[in-house]
Amino acid sequence: MTIDLKALVRSIPDYPRPGIIFRDITSLIEDSAGFRESCARLAGAHDDKGITKVAGIEARGFIFGAGVAIALGVGFVPVRKAGKLPGETIGQNYALEYGVDTIEIHANAVGPDDNVLLVDDLIATGGTAIAAVSLLRRTGARVAHAGFVIDLPDIGGADKLRAQGVSVEALVA
Ligand code: PRP
Ligand code: ADE
Repeated sequence: MTIDLKALVRSIPDYPRPGIIFRDITSLIEDSAGFRESCARLAGAHDDKGITKVAGIEARGFIFGAGVAIALGVGFVPVRKAGKLPGETIGQNYALEYGVDTIEIHANAVGPDDNVLLVDDLIATGGTAIAAVSLLRRTGARVAHAGFVIDLPDIGGADKLRAQGVSVEALVA
């Protein structure tokens, strides 16, 4: 039986700011069947793509990315907010609604022999995911596929990511 994943996502109005409806995945991951199915479906959509690594974006992308990596039988690469990784890093700035932020990976985490699947819980503007794709590609890695639990299609980030040559799989809109 297919689980209604959308029903497991909690919507919280006016968080973190008035006017934003926050799509909260904690209610989904607290449900063992919902959590397992989310990871299994994202993995199943990519198990014929020759993926060599899953990259997950801090923090919520770590939760699903780790499950997808285990399901695909490949390693996991954390895409972290700046200043958290101990080795040599490369970083990428990206625009937020107010100001800029930076994400980083270890410089040798992936390379030209890798075919990376990017995973996050949610895509909204696409700014975070596009920055992660740019960062991963700077190593020479192929990044042609991304998976999200939630897409907010009215905001348009998934189409922007597709325009970068990345297929986008989302379980819930
Ligand atoms: C959220 C979400 C995505 C990003 C999507 O992360 O988990 O990573 O925003 O937004 P965008 O498509 O407009 O870039 P957030 O930066 O809130 O960090 P968190 O996972 O640590 O809560
Ligand atoms: N990240 C960006 N927009 C979001 C939203 N509406 N809910 C949860 N996370 C988000």
